[in-house]
Amino acid sequence: MKSAGHKATADVPMLDLSRQYASIRDEILAAVTRACDSQRYILGDEAVAFEHEFAALCGSADAVGCASGTDGLWLALAAAGIGAGDSVITTPFSFFATASSILRAGAKPIFVDVDPETLNLAPARLEERLKNASQGVRAVMPVHLYGQCADMDGIDRIAAEFKLHVVEDAAQAVGATWNGRRAGSLGLAAAFSFYPTKNLSAFGDAGAVTTNDARLAERMRSLRNHGGKQRYYHDEVGANSRLDAIQAAVLRVKMPHLARWNDARREHARTYGRLLTSAGLTRSGANSTAPVVLLKTLPGAHHIYHQYVIRVRDRDKLRAFLSERGVGSEIYYPIPLHLQKCFAYLGYSPGDLPESERAALDVLALPMFAELEENEQRHVVESIAEFYS
Ligand SMILES: Cc1ncc(COP(=O)(O)O)c(C=O)c1O
Repeated sequence: MKSAGHKATADVPMLDLSRQYASIRDEILAAVTRACDSQRYILGDEAVAFEHEFAALCGSADAVGCASGTDGLWLALAAAGIGAGDSVITTPFSFFATASSILRAGAKPIFVDVDPETLNLAPARLEERLKNASQGVRAVMPVHLYGQCADMDGIDRIAAEFKLHVVEDAAQAVGATWNGRRAGSLGLAAAFSFYPTKNLSAFGDAGAVTTNDARLAERMRSLRNHGGKQRYYHDEVGANSRLDAIQAAVLRVKMPHLARWNDARREHARTYGRLLTSAGLTRSGANSTAPVVLLKTLPGAHHIYHQYVIRVRDRDKLRAFLSERGVGSEIYYPIPLHLQKCFAYLGYSPGDLPESERAALDVLALPMFAELEENEQRHVVESIAEFYS
């Protein structure tokens, strides 16, 4: 294992939004100007048009724009009537909002472990937990982590058996599919995030929830606007979680480009796999002590690589070495949700969900964005090879 000695000449960032912006700048500025000229800043025609176009993109009947993916998860749960006394099963290996939205709806999260090959919720663990105790469990919330759909065949079968709603956390998965069905159309509802680092991103916070259920959509539209359909008349207590016209306008410019951007991500993932393997870094039958393990893509999944994540030996030292070489990397996620301080009262201990805990120690996300260049990927992989040489 090497220590870093010199600084690379060309840095490779985790994400460079400026390249995407340069390629669509004129379209964006025209759309933002249109939104400004309308003098309608919140919801309005721009948001309505976005909702139609986004629902179509996801193969879903309706989409409800909101202020963030975090709010979208809460809106879906709250509109489905999930609250006090209910439990929702989810993965501990996700962003914080996956679990916090369940608590915010008034319900209790139950964590079940992930499949170590995909790091998505493991249907076998879900079934085990429900066979053990299913009382009060109303929904399951799979996360399509890194842009790959969770095993929805297994999850759907179990959800049907135990009469659970499926609420997708599709924050990282716009454009992903499962056996040809699009993320966002695989359950009762699906929440998406358009946070600036996401594969479909706004110029600030924004989110949406898709659903095929017209009543659920109507209730979400009310909940996102203080629980009322008519101003100053409130049927229930909701939130201020509306979509801004400017964000809707930006998203409408980007949506027609998304398939091409996702294809580019998939191509970069293939390139990383090829370069890491030909450098002799990846673990396989014959090379069982190699330092890098590639995650698996399930046969039914069309993975859009919101992130490209590998599992590695000496992760933190490798990360420091890469940083000195000018190579960006990130850890998604360093602490599984069941071990977060704020959830201590739920009573989980280290060792309870071992696959998630192991993943938290060895996952590393490499630079990934549509405009990434092959020579940059070569630099990333050569730097990894140098570290382990
Ligand atoms: C898996 C997952 N769920 C939920 C969210 C929350 O989305 P937002 O940041 O838009 O609130 C994110 C994004 O950060 C995410 O990655």
